[in-house]
Amino acid sequence: MRNVRDIIRERIDLVELVSDYVRLERAGKNYKGLCPFHTEKTPSFFVSPELNRFHCFGCGASGDAFAFLMRIEGLSFREALRQLAQRAGIELHEDALPAEAPDERERLRKLLFAANFFYRQSLQRTPAAQRYLAQRGLTRDTIEAFELGYAPDGWDCLVRFLERHNFSLPDAEAAGLLKAREDGSGYYDRFRHRITFPIHDASGRVIAFGARTLGNEEPKYLNSPETPLFEKRTTLYGWHRARGAILRQRAALIVEGYLDLIMLHQYGFTHSVATLGTALTEDHATRLKRLVDRVYLIFDSDAAGIRAALRAGEILSQAAIPALVVRLPEGEDPDSLLRTQGAEALQHALDSAIPIAQFGIEHIIREVAGDRNPLTLSPAHKAQIVQRGLQWAASLPSALERMACLERLAPLTPAYLTNRQAALQALQQELHQLLRTRRQRPNQQPSPSPPQREPLRLTVPKAIFQAESEVLRATLHPDSAAIVLEHLPHIEWQVPLHKQLADALSALPQPPCHYSPAALLQAIENDALKDLLTALLMQEAPPMNPEWAAGCLQRLQQDALRRKRLQLATELTQQPTPETNPQAAERLQEYWRMRVESLS
Ligand code: UTP
Ligand code: MN
Repeated sequence: MRNVRDIIRERIDLVELVSDYVRLERAGKNYKGLCPFHTEKTPSFFVSPELNRFHCFGCGASGDAFAFLMRIEGLSFREALRQLAQRAGIELHEDALPAEAPDERERLRKLLFAANFFYRQSLQRTPAAQRYLAQRGLTRDTIEAFELGYAPDGWDCLVRFLERHNFSLPDAEAAGLLKAREDGSGYYDRFRHRITFPIHDASGRVIAFGARTLGNEEPKYLNSPETPLFEKRTTLYGWHRARGAILRQRAALIVEGYLDLIMLHQYGFTHSVATLGTALTEDHATRLKRLVDRVYLIFDSDAAGIRAALRAGEILSQAAIPALVVRLPEGEDPDSLLRTQGAEALQHALDSAIPIAQFGIEHIIREVAGDRNPLTLSPAHKAQIVQRGLQWAASLPSALERMACLERLAPLTPAYLTNRQAALQALQQELHQLLRTRRQRPNQQPSPSPPQREPLRLTVPKAIFQAESEVLRATLHPDSAAIVLEHLPHIEWQVPLHKQLADALSALPQPPCHYSPAALLQAIENDALKDLLTALLMQEAPPMNPEWAAGCLQRLQQDALRRKRLQLATELTQQPTPETNPQAAERLQEYWRMRVESLS
């Protein structure tokens, strides 16, 4: 029976949907690109328009439009259904949606939406707040686009508004909008007499607020606490507005402040996002990784800013995102630079951004040498730079960047004067030593690689894994199916998922090659099997033909024999000697017969 999900799926062009996130190019019947779900340098992520499914041959990610959107945007099924229905131009009635428990997140979203409305209205009524924004150089369009508002000067302005509209105050507390009075007598507004900056999720829904004083009282900014909707770790301010531009430019600017971010957008740098008063996290990096070729870090030029840039650079490097550090003139932030010197000044700073690897080394040199030429330092100081520089280099996953670091360090080693090449080699050796010890403590290195799927984790030899999978693929092609189908029930599958698929395919009323790919997918129930089948249907190399299929079958048969032999041999070593045990003698003979057979 066709349900809403099927209807939507048919109307969605998966290639187009995926193209919002991944640069795809044509590859035969399919499209391919770099997998957004794991880090890779050569494309193993495929989208099949025919099957309307995607599959990554690297990490095993697989599925339909729903699976893609849920995973890439972190949505629930219900949310994905809504978005895709909208995209497909299908009107969804609420009762068409699968029932979900009364959703707290949905209630909190409504509250945040209402509060945002309230703050924006109150900005209209408050000239002092409007003057502040004007004096900060924000245009009307920018204020509209970023939905800036004003939280009135009073303890219960929002409380009363929410009560008037029958919202639950405990919910409003859970949404981070209100705080409970200590004596338990009710609630009061968290944000008072502040400019409000709504923070949105990827779909543009309000999930939290930042709020700035109009003067310079401390704290200058307040933020919503973490709520079921709002995790600082994963959220980037401005993401929903910047994503398109980031995708087009294949680059992103990362800044630290609300107003810096807004100003960047106002001056045309629409591919900018901001962290929310916290360090850049691995989750942020994952989010960016899908879309960018490089990231520009724009942090303050004070000590804290440099530390933040180095840490962010390390995290981006681990995610294989090239990071560049943008240095602004002393004492400037993007907001002040843009307002005093315009977009060209910022563009100039971007053009002279330096790669994080180099930035790290220069920072270490500056810390030790100050303004002195590092070559004039004492041997002890030079050694200090080299040691710290090696540590830094070891934290970089790119061999090229590590090498660039070593080249910068080499002149600081004593050997350099007599033999440059030897100096470099000595550094290389030390670096390898460091890398080895780092690898022995793998939990010290954050590894963003995705969880591996079941079949890949098994200790089945790769050749056998492949032969099994090729035999399954052979069942899908008319000329090779005849060869493998009759053997299918007798194969001793080493990969459980392969066995499941073989069973499912054998159970079909017709041989698999008689179905169209879409019909075949429809006939298989289990999601994991669907994924595997998708991969097999999409795989084009090596070309499938009867000889190849027969070869794979033969390899499996030989391997089954090898295992049996091994088992016999093990049994024999555990039993009394053959002379005293006739049964064992028989088994020994069988063992030798099989060995001889396997050699012929
Ligand atoms: P800054 O102190 O650099 O301020 O804080 P700013 O962004 O330049 O702000 P303006 O220009 O004075 O308005 C940078 C960021 O750190 C977080 C905010 O996200 C802010 O945008 N922050 C700062 C807080 O969360 N709380 C604070 O009290 C201060
Ligand atoms: Mn500022």
